[in-house]
Amino acid sequence: MLIATAGNGSSADSTPSPSLPGPASAAPSADSGDTARHWWRDAVIYQVYVRSFLDTTGDGIGDLAGVRTGLPYLKKLGVDGIWLSPCYPSPQHDHGYDVADYRDVDPVYGDLAEFDRLVADAHRLGLKVLLDIVPNHCSSEHPWFRAALADGPGSPARSLFHFADGRGVDGELPPNNWRAMFGGPAWSRVKEAGSASEAPTGQWYLHMFTPEQPDLNWRNPAVAADFEDVLRFWLDRGVDGFRIDVAAGLFKHPELPDSPDPAADERTRDSVNPLAWNQPEVHQVWRDWRALCEEYTARDGRDRLLVGEVSVRTPSEQAAYVRPDELHQAFFFHLLTARWDVDTFRRVITEALTDIAGTGSTVTWVLNNHDQVRTVTRYATEPGGGVEGIAAGPGGGLGPARARAAALLMLALPGAAYVYQGEELGLPEVVDLPDEVLTDPIYHRTGSRQHIRDGCRVPLPWSGHASPFGFTSGTDAARPWLPQPAWFAEHATDRALADTRSFWHLYREGLQLRRSLPQLGEGTLRWLDSPSQVLAFVRGDGLVCAVNFGTEPVSAPAPGLPLLASGDCPAGTLPGSTAAWWMHAPEAQ
Ligand code: GLC
Repeated sequence: MLIATAGNGSSADSTPSPSLPGPASAAPSADSGDTARHWWRDAVIYQVYVRSFLDTTGDGIGDLAGVRTGLPYLKKLGVDGIWLSPCYPSPQHDHGYDVADYRDVDPVYGDLAEFDRLVADAHRLGLKVLLDIVPNHCSSEHPWFRAALADGPGSPARSLFHFADGRGVDGELPPNNWRAMFGGPAWSRVKEAGSASEAPTGQWYLHMFTPEQPDLNWRNPAVAADFEDVLRFWLDRGVDGFRIDVAAGLFKHPELPDSPDPAADERTRDSVNPLAWNQPEVHQVWRDWRALCEEYTARDGRDRLLVGEVSVRTPSEQAAYVRPDELHQAFFFHLLTARWDVDTFRRVITEALTDIAGTGSTVTWVLNNHDQVRTVTRYATEPGGGVEGIAAGPGGGLGPARARAAALLMLALPGAAYVYQGEELGLPEVVDLPDEVLTDPIYHRTGSRQHIRDGCRVPLPWSGHASPFGFTSGTDAARPWLPQPAWFAEHATDRALADTRSFWHLYREGLQLRRSLPQLGEGTLRWLDSPSQVLAFVRGDGLVCAVNFGTEPVSAPAPGLPLLASGDCPAGTLPGSTAAWWMHAPEAQ
């Protein structure tokens, strides 16, 4: 199978930079503004979960100044840019995905001046900056929602949200049977101003996540107009684009009918209520946002990027979101959710390349993010991984080897990739956080630890042998907002940088080769015949990547020592749970 896509190239330069600790140095600009190459098509973006990256104020919570401090580290790693998790003013019911003001920075993370300094420093280092934008819902503390509560039924303020009368004799039943993604009904009832009753006896409002995250009504044009203004606000401050939260959301079925299978809608965090998500009207929003980005590009020649969190059922449904006049990219979650199994990986990669690359966009590969169990732990607990169940431990078994192999695979695929902070350290999930420290609303709304996300959000270890591992500093330094286990010491960045066999060096070398080899990034992929447990393909005219999903060694698909391997890989063999790259093109099959 041969899939052809055009071009190749990465945007950022390879200027070495100092390692932590240290301020973001002012290296010469590498922000070339070269739109002909479309930097985003094969960029590798590092996801910064700001709260857990680096704390400079000693309050135990990461901040924008911490991200600035870490920029040279990221430059050295070799990524092309960063995506910042939401840092807007927020009551933090869902760690910033409940936005109270889309045009400011929460004081816990800094202020607009600090944000501007971060963008300037990143650009001086040749790193792009993507902001997380949350258009499906806001915070119940957003002035619009406060006004909607105050102004009452039928008011213009209520029409910015989905307010409806309840069903039942006294409106005591929600308007429909939809379930929220984080557990419980998707509707909450309000107490109307002036009501004599202490109980909420008024209208209901829709929230597909928590009650503190009311869904906006995108059928009201005022919503779209305000978001256009918000995008301009941040584009004018220099951001290079946006990661769009819940990009298959926004519009709901106009009649808000009952769901045929409400239990299925809440079975997992990522399930898809077909009446609440993926409505056809949403595509016009992405066309409008794309046109806005292009307006900015026309002014200064710098490409802006829209990358959507598009949770839909199939790659072909996802492809509709990345048509040439819509989003530039959408995260390809089918790789992130793929089990460690050769046939599954081959199938999802093939579907992505057929359906998504067929739109002219590039596939946006992702193995980890702030919502999922980290690969080291995930792969350890899958069949044959050597660890029984997530609760059994943070890693061990074959988890680390498989996660390293998956990383080399991802970096060899055509398109763009996202790396979640700590992935480059091989950080396992923290599976045994005590109940009383858990902050994830999924836990608090369902009472279950299944699907909770705190374990992949524990603050990063930078240095030293004990918590806070350099994450937070100062004599009065508070404890990190989530406790770090003692074993984080093994994964601290100072150790990783010093050990050439670390995950960190594997990612760095992979990223360097991506930058220097024309076969990587965009381009063709051709599958090679291989033993049943092996996935092997050729990129361009000569780079072979092979992954052995089994546990027994097989013959290498190319002669000689590999250019890069995820584990020990003697010439002529590819050991189990290992991936490697060779520079050699076997004859076309
Ligand atoms: C997205 C985010 C997740 C958040 C949710 C609600 O799925 O990735 O972290 O909780 O949207 O905004």
